[in-house]
Amino acid sequence: MAAQNGADWWRQATVYQIYPRSFADANGDGLGDLPGIASRVDYLARLGVDAVWLSPFYPSALADGGYDVDDYRNVDPRLGTLDDFDAMVAALHGAGIKLIVDIVPNHSSNRHEWFQAALAAPKGSPERDRYVFRDGLGEHGELSPAPDWVSAFGGPAWTAVGDGQWYLHLFAPEQPDFNWRNEEVREDFLKTLRFWSDRGVDGFRVDVAHALAKDLPADLPSQAQLDAIDKATGTHPLWDRDEVHEIYTGWRAVFDEYDPPRIAVAEAWVNPPWRRARYASAAGLGQAFNFDLLEADFDAAAFKAIITENLEQAAASGSSTTWVFSNHDVVRHATRYGLPPNGDQPRKYNRAWLLSRGTEPELDTARGLRRARAATLLMLALPGSAYLYQGEELGLGEVATIPDEARQDPTFARSPGVDVGRDGCRVPIPWTVEGPSFGFGPGPAHLPQPDWFGKVSVEAEDGDAGSTLSLYRSALGLRRELQADETLAWVPSGAEVLHVRRANGWEAVANFGTAPVALPEGDVLLASGPLGEGELPGETTVWLKKP
Ligand code: NOJ
Repeated sequence: MAAQNGADWWRQATVYQIYPRSFADANGDGLGDLPGIASRVDYLARLGVDAVWLSPFYPSALADGGYDVDDYRNVDPRLGTLDDFDAMVAALHGAGIKLIVDIVPNHSSNRHEWFQAALAAPKGSPERDRYVFRDGLGEHGELSPAPDWVSAFGGPAWTAVGDGQWYLHLFAPEQPDFNWRNEEVREDFLKTLRFWSDRGVDGFRVDVAHALAKDLPADLPSQAQLDAIDKATGTHPLWDRDEVHEIYTGWRAVFDEYDPPRIAVAEAWVNPPWRRARYASAAGLGQAFNFDLLEADFDAAAFKAIITENLEQAAASGSSTTWVFSNHDVVRHATRYGLPPNGDQPRKYNRAWLLSRGTEPELDTARGLRRARAATLLMLALPGSAYLYQGEELGLGEVATIPDEARQDPTFARSPGVDVGRDGCRVPIPWTVEGPSFGFGPGPAHLPQPDWFGKVSVEAEDGDAGSTLSLYRSALGLRRELQADETLAWVPSGAEVLHVRRANGWEAVANFGTAPVALPEGDVLLASGPLGEGELPGETTVWLKKP
């Protein structure tokens, strides 16, 4: 089965996430840009991806890496122009690669013209109604309306504007939350969806899709009371409210104005997991991320439970599932898997290791990479969409050694001593063995790259049959050729082994243990590491084909 080209192209697509400021810098200002991406389309085509997901490229002061958008219908001048955008789309489409762009509807930046107008306008004005303003407590409103609410990046979630009013920001103070009950806000986003769809984008990744609908009571609860609310009921004041889906019904109508319909994938960290289904429904956004593998240990039983549950959920919603190990928010999986399990802490953060600047606990780089390759090869054989993050095809690890003064992520400044933030997975990727910024651009990169980057550059790995780049290229090529319907069968196996079979006889066998096991029958198509004589070594995955 070849890659899908009709309306269903997304269902089992391989989607490659580009964090544009860290991909390729054509103009030498240290920031990646759109002409840089256009110049690397051949690389993407050779890699074998079906689509690119582009993180925000809009004008932004970069208070949150571009997720603070000044203008939703333009390009950051440092990244290019609308003409550059069109040229990039043409280059991608010319290579048969679709484009999904990030859309950030929960909040704008504080530099957005609407927020500036809200600041200039009085309390109760239509300008303020586009955001979530509240009177402060105390005689003159000098106290926060909810003093102990904590934003997602640490620090307070409300900021005063100086006239007794305060605004809500679930993230950084530079990211004021929109009021989605406001008709102008709703209309403006429909306009934005059409603007980019008309320019040829094939779909949207919807940032914080579960936070748009809010219902704040007159007396705001404390943070502890908020945390105690059962999110399964769909009535939490801030997160995953049932009425958020009315918004997406309107978006779906816009998507369906196009042929093929534009697609969307929701970033919705919801709990319990069955609440994802509504974001993924065909009447809504159509697909939703599950981050379950990203949060799991390298463990056969955990993987099996996650795969089973997500395939069931996808089938129930009519969508296809999504698999993700790495993105711009988490420690890269080649590093996570080389560290001991993280206890109660969400695995994706590995805070202690980051805080120690990568010294404690000791990282087993070889093991991390071996496991990452095995996990990825299993994932690429599963039904559903595979979301890859730039650099993982090189086996790139997290950079833990960024000096404090070079850090950019707001989490670092807002949670001093607790979280160093996400810069370590956002370091510009290495293209060449040497040179300023390892081929990322003609000058230094906006985040410092470590010396070891040259060894994991595209140039170093290209043509090396054992490299991770070669593994990804082979796997993506075969995945396209072999792609089958969205069913999956489990072949009985030992406790530390997962053995799956697709309807056409394509099989993947992943050995999560450390001891070798007997290699099952079948023609070997690809393996994540060297195979023994009739043996599948530990922490290795093999693809087989049964006639
Ligand atoms: C999720 C994005 O992936 C993350 O990078 C960003 O900081 C937050 N949403 C806020 O927009």
